[in-house]
Amino acid sequence: MRNRVEVMHGVNLDQLGRRDPGHYGRLTLDELERRIEDFARELGLVVRFFQTNHEGEFVEHLHRLDGLADAIVLNPGAWTHYAWAIRDALELTGLPAVEVHLSDVMAREEFRRVSVIRDLCLETVSGQGPDGYRRALERLKEEL
Ligand code: DQA
Repeated sequence: MRNRVEVMHGVNLDQLGRRDPGHYGRLTLDELERRIEDFARELGLVVRFFQTNHEGEFVEHLHRLDGLADAIVLNPGAWTHYAWAIRDALELTGLPAVEVHLSDVMAREEFRRVSVIRDLCLETVSGQGPDGYRRALERLKEEL
């Protein structure tokens, strides 16, 4: 049964709870992960979480997913907008992926409108807060 989803958070997302609640809400990363776990359980998916502030670690974690995950939900934070190495590593996994942003990146500064991973992902969900992760898991469930 293909139901293992790796949920990966990038740079500064460990600081949720301290970041601008107008964009990111008030949940801490731990609380957000508990919420995502509940969504996953309802959908019959098994999630595993990863967060780092180091781009190379994010890349190496993607390298290690072979055989360990069936799909990926990723919110790389600011790396989304310029980290080509993350794009290459995501492509290498060959896994179905959905990109999530808590905030509405299209309605913010110009630089946030660019995503170097968007075209590798089945869908990009942004501006829906924690519920965006439910949408991402639903989309991946359709795929698996
Ligand atoms: C973010 C949006 C990014 O532009 C920003 O750099 C983040 C979080 C989001 O979840 O809305 O760190 O990915």
